Amino acid sequence: MIPKKIQIVEVGPRDGLQNEKQSVPTETKIALIEKLADAGLTKIEATSFVSPKWVPQLKDAYEVVSSIKRRTGVTYPVLTPNLKGFEWALEAGVEEVAVFGAASEAFSRKNINCSIADSIERFRPVLKEAQKNAIPVRGYISCVLGCPYQGDVPVQDVVDLAEKMTDIGCYQISLGDTIGSGTPLQAKNMVQQVAKKVPVSNIALHFHDTRGQALANIYACLELGVSVIDSSVAGLGGCPYAKGATGNVATEDVVFMLHGMGIETGIDLNKLIETGRFISDVLGRVPQSRVSCAA
Ligand code: HMG
Ligand code: MG
Repeated sequence: MIPKKIQIVEVGPRDGLQNEKQSVPTETKIALIEKLADAGLTKIEATSFVSPKWVPQLKDAYEVVSSIKRRTGVTYPVLTPNLKGFEWALEAGVEEVAVFGAASEAFSRKNINCSIADSIERFRPVLKEAQKNAIPVRGYISCVLGCPYQGDVPVQDVVDLAEKMTDIGCYQISLGDTIGSGTPLQAKNMVQQVAKKVPVSNIALHFHDTRGQALANIYACLELGVSVIDSSVAGLGGCPYAKGATGNVATEDVVFMLHGMGIETGIDLNKLIETGRFISDVLGRVPQSRVSCAA
C-alpha cells in the first residue's frame, strides 16, 4: 500500500556538491543546509568525511558540520567510509552517519578502493563505535540497477549486500541507482527481492535521474510501501566515480508528485523551489527540476 507520509532525505549538499567542478564556498554550503531546514526538510545529508584527495569538493566537512545552526527535529547525517572518517565526524558533532558500499565489485574498488568483502570489514568498526556513541548508521548500496563498469548487476548481489549491511547494524538500507539506468518494473522487482531480507520500513530509494526514469521508478516502489526517498534540491548531484551519472531526482519534483497524490512530506514546496534557485544561481545554471522551471 502507498504510504500516507514520506520521509525525504535531502542529499543535495553531499551528493550534489561532491560532484561540482567549481568550488562552492563553505558559507554557501552552510546557507544551503539552513535554507533546506527552513523549507521543512528534517533529514539533510550535510557532507562526507572522506579523503580530500578523493573528493576535494568536500574537504571542508569538519567546518560545515561544526558551523551549521542545528535545529530540533532536524538531523544532518554525513558519509563516513571508515573508522578514520567516523572519528573525525564524531569530533565535529554529527548525530548520524552512513557507510557506503556497492553491489558491483568493480564500482566498490573505484569508489572506495576495496572489494565488497573488505568494505564490510571496514564498516564493522564504524558500526561498533557508532553503537557505543548511540549514533545511527545508514547503509548505502550503489549500482543496484546497473554499474558503469560492470554493466548488469544481479539482483541477488544487491540482496546479499543489503542483508550483510543489516546484519552488521545498519538501521536503514538506501538503494542507489547510481547511474540512473533502471526502469520501473526492474526497480520494483529489485526492492521486492531486497524486502524478503530487509523489512520494507528499513528501505530507502536513492535514484539518480540520468535517463529521466527516477519518478517512475519511485512510484513503482511506493506501491510496495517504501516510505523513505533520497532526493536532491535542484537535481544537484552525481558521483565522482561514476562517469555519466548526473544528478539525483530533484526534491522539488518528488515533493510535487507526492503532494499531488495526497502524501504528506512536511515540506513547503515554494520555499524549496527558492532554495533550489539559490544554489543554482551560485552554480550559474537553471535548476534541474521540472517543477521549478514551471513555477
Ligand atoms: P584509501 O586510499 O584506500 O585509504 O582510500 P587509506 O586508508 O589507504 O588512506 C589513504 C589516505 O587517505 C591516507 O592519507 C589516509 O589518512 C586518508 P595520506 O597518508 O595519503 O595523506 N584517509 C582519509 N582522509 C580523510 N577521511 C577519511 C580517510 N580515510 C583515509 N575517511 C577511502 C579509502 C574510502 C578513504 C577513499 O577511497 C575515499 O575517500 N573514497 C571516497 C569516495 C566517495 O566519497 N565517493 C562518493 C560518495 S559515494 C556516492 O556518491 C554513491 C551514493 O550517493 C549512492 C549512489 O548514488 O549509488 C552514496
Ligand atoms: Mg548518489
